[in-house]
Amino acid sequence: MSTTPSGIIGRPTPRIDGPLKTTGAAKYATDFHIDGMAYAVPFVSSIASGRIRNLDTSAAEKMPGVLLVLHRGNIGQLYRTVPGDGDATNSEVRPAFEDDIVRHWGQYVALVVAETFEEATSAAAVIHAEYDLETPKLRSSLDDFTGERKKGSHRGNFDAAFGSAPVKVDQTYVTPIETHNPIEMHGSVAVWDRDQLTMFETTQGVVNHRVVMAQTLGIPIENVRVVTRFLGSGFGGKLFPWPHCAMNAVAACKLGRPVKLCLPRRMMFSSVGYRPRTEQRMRLGASMDGKLLALSHDYLNSTSLLDDYDEGCAEATPYLYSVANLSVTSGLVRRNLGAPMYMRGPGAVPGLYAMEAAMNELADELKIDPVKLRILNDAEKDEDKNIPFSSRHYRECLEVGAKKFGWEKRTVGIGSMRRYGKILGWGMAGASWVALRLPCTAHVEFHANGRVSVRSGTQDIGTGTYTTFAQVVHEKTGVPLDRIDVVIGDSALPDGPMSGGSMVTGSVLNAIANASTEAMKKMIALSTGTEGSPLKGTKAEELEFAEGRIRKKDSAAGDPEFAEILKLARVDGLSAEGKTVPTWEDPQSKDKSLHSYGAQFVEVEWEPDIARLRVSRVVTVIDAGRIINPKAAANQIAGAVVMGVGMGLLEETVHDQRTGQPINGSMADYLMATCADSPEIDVTFLDYPDPAMGEYGARGVGEIGLAGVAAAITAAVHHATGVRVRELPVKIEDLLQSKILQA
Ligand code: MOS
Repeated sequence: MSTTPSGIIGRPTPRIDGPLKTTGAAKYATDFHIDGMAYAVPFVSSIASGRIRNLDTSAAEKMPGVLLVLHRGNIGQLYRTVPGDGDATNSEVRPAFEDDIVRHWGQYVALVVAETFEEATSAAAVIHAEYDLETPKLRSSLDDFTGERKKGSHRGNFDAAFGSAPVKVDQTYVTPIETHNPIEMHGSVAVWDRDQLTMFETTQGVVNHRVVMAQTLGIPIENVRVVTRFLGSGFGGKLFPWPHCAMNAVAACKLGRPVKLCLPRRMMFSSVGYRPRTEQRMRLGASMDGKLLALSHDYLNSTSLLDDYDEGCAEATPYLYSVANLSVTSGLVRRNLGAPMYMRGPGAVPGLYAMEAAMNELADELKIDPVKLRILNDAEKDEDKNIPFSSRHYRECLEVGAKKFGWEKRTVGIGSMRRYGKILGWGMAGASWVALRLPCTAHVEFHANGRVSVRSGTQDIGTGTYTTFAQVVHEKTGVPLDRIDVVIGDSALPDGPMSGGSMVTGSVLNAIANASTEAMKKMIALSTGTEGSPLKGTKAEELEFAEGRIRKKDSAAGDPEFAEILKLARVDGLSAEGKTVPTWEDPQSKDKSLHSYGAQFVEVEWEPDIARLRVSRVVTVIDAGRIINPKAAANQIAGAVVMGVGMGLLEETVHDQRTGQPINGSMADYLMATCADSPEIDVTFLDYPDPAMGEYGARGVGEIGLAGVAAAITAAVHHATGVRVRELPVKIEDLLQSKILQA
């Protein structure tokens, strides 16, 4: 791992916020308890499609402790948002209670606010709604698609090239609806002080959340402040606000009291997004020696009745491999479900499952090693946009992964590898994920108490943002980590990016580096101009800022610490601003194709006697530019791999076909990979700084670790059992077809 001269960039660094979390001192949204707070509990529809004929809240209103029952009749006006310039992005177009049409099970119908949570819960239970029922569209298969397909990337002549290709794969791959299950559930605390609204939220984007809330409520943006100090993760489900946030703010306004609303886990399955179902037809045509001649990716994804959510499954398809003839199409299929939402590695993760599963099938058709097939078709440039890659080491990911995994020992026959009586299956897949540097601002401030603070309106979703920010300030100023305060998670701070797309590290570090440099310059100037300073009258060019001191470039230590200068100058602090230029405006990056790459190698153990399958070992090699904190980064990748085990073998949200209720909408029924399902995981970073990403060359990690895992698992499953599963998750029922059930 490469490190900087000061050694902190690239050094495994424990999280500076770790003690706050392990001692329970870290405050999450609903940990904010405000004097006089009331509690809100939603009443939601128990049907998937229809119209509310009558809503009877009279019994609820008479229940003890009830302060307010909010519904369509009394909520007043809420507005739809107008997105622009990346701001005001909402999860659902429809605000709460906008009309009396029910479009999904779990849609908000009323909100009870009471003195206590228990009273609100009891009152919500006696609300009575009558509906005119309609037949919901809930079929899980998307084969009823009749709409127009949207055309995506295109080059050459796919039909002709596929038609004449000597070797072909033409298969459809299915990924189910999956639900985000962060540890911390959605919640909102709304506090009004006259016309000023403060919202303690669990959001991946305080700045955007603020804009959406102002627009939805129809109040000036200056009147809204959104605070998210810590998040118990989000996985995309908390990128944009959901309708409960504005609903809760209105309740607090009407009552003139702070109100807290916590969604129960059950509602996490119905009302705050999910990865939609995808059905992806992949057609690959190749020459006898394995060169791709034609590639098409035609996908459908489910969406809600009102939201045009496109999963973007073909994100990686047009650039990952070299192929002259390519075609991409997509379509949306509407269902009586809530709005889908980005989920870790949106688009690319389900898309690469299909792409890489098809590549593995093509390798088998060709009888070519799947690693070799990928290397053979490695792309020299982004053939979609006809621009160079900024930094691409995909081939090395594949080679290093194969070596670490011991891939050359693989024998190709189904069920041919054994260990201690268990059959082993080995599979692999490639991965990629987009990189971007988003525009943002950071402030760095030296304080007279000897501390340095760095401020930006972004947030830490649990990935280690607090720590990487402090690392950069330390690297620049030499001030030790325990004297650096990272202040994030507040929309009142300078604009910072959303914690999404694995983009915070690559974006904000540049602004922090610039702000640090600027602040040090200002400190030097102050030291030369301040009465009583030992450096008074010295030329700024002769001075440097190092280890928290201002010193003469040619002399040893003994020069003043910044705090001494601030005291002499009688100022409490000195602050400077730094900005990040987005990749699309920077000549270094704007005509480059920026992506991270990876390779996943998976071993499964198959015990045919008892039909038990387990992922036993994963080797993952990641090319994500410079790695700032290998400890937190490896943790991200390992976590993503475990999520990949869930995607491959366990996760699937199932809806009742009559009511649209999630059947497995609880932590007991929705299966996720836990510690017991976790394989042995070996994470390697190639650590090549990407010059297009700015000073540190970091592209960021997180979602890339999930990409490709499911395709590597299904390949390993095929190798062990002979069963080719093309609909995730792999189920025991699928494996019972294995011809090698008898060991
Ligand atoms: Mo991620 S799905 O961009 O939070």
